[in-house]
Amino acid sequence: GKKKSIVDFMRMKKEGEPVTWVTAYDFPMASFAQQAGIDMILVGDSLGMVVLGYKGTNPVTMEDCISHCQAVRRGAPNTWIVGDMPFMSYQISDADAVANAGRFIKEADVDCVKLEGGQRVASRIKAITDAGILVIGHIGLTPQSSGQLGGFLAQGRDVKNARALIKDALAVQEAGAYAILVEAVPPEVTGFMQKKLEIPVYSIGAGPADGQLIICGDMLGMFQAFTPKFVKKYANVAEIEINAFKDYADDVRTGRFPADEHVYHILEPIEEFEKM
Ligand code: KIV
Ligand code: NA
Repeated sequence: GKKKSIVDFMRMKKEGEPVTWVTAYDFPMASFAQQAGIDMILVGDSLGMVVLGYKGTNPVTMEDCISHCQAVRRGAPNTWIVGDMPFMSYQISDADAVANAGRFIKEADVDCVKLEGGQRVASRIKAITDAGILVIGHIGLTPQSSGQLGGFLAQGRDVKNARALIKDALAVQEAGAYAILVEAVPPEVTGFMQKKLEIPVYSIGAGPADGQLIICGDMLGMFQAFTPKFVKKYANVAEIEINAFKDYADDVRTGRFPADEHVYHILEPIEEFEKM
């Protein structure tokens, strides 16, 4: 299909057509997502956990993100790609934030960047937007500051916290973000934001919204460390891969692989080199 743009995403919000959004980190996954007709791909800093094996997202570097975004762009040339700004790529200053957001655009050809936080990153969002770069905000459960939240916990479950989140969402819109992602928040709060905001409100673990995001490692059954409540599993790729490796090892050990159909036989009589 044709690559979508913010014009499509605004129309989809207006018409109540949910955007489909998954994470992907490498060429094959991106290619499969595009072939499935997925609307957007997030190259999340969750790559630290899903593909690099870290316990959290904070060790992920700009270089990791750029390299994975490049692979994803090669795999999905006609899909909207969101580059996720890693820990410490935007926390220090507006100038840093603009420079690093610019690297995603220049070096990895992504369509926009995403960063975590509400009011406290409003000046970052404005600075990046003023540089002509599209930004998606991200509030609720924000993994890069999960220490301050007391862990990977749902947010906005009491009225005081919900009000603070709604103020954050409005600040993100006011700062110039073209969309916002809400993570692990009650659907009542997400639904209110969806009506209150002009920009699309996307959800991961936050109920129905203008679009849904899911982490490929979770939905495909590749990430084994833990599975959040909000994940629906659509496949068990870990099991498929483990069984394939076992079958291969078994074949090699028993001499069933390689078989005659897997070899290139010599095309001439072998006496020639047997004389050597
Ligand atoms: O990195 C990521 O995949 C994300 C989602 C969990 C929202 O930011
Ligand atoms: Na992230």
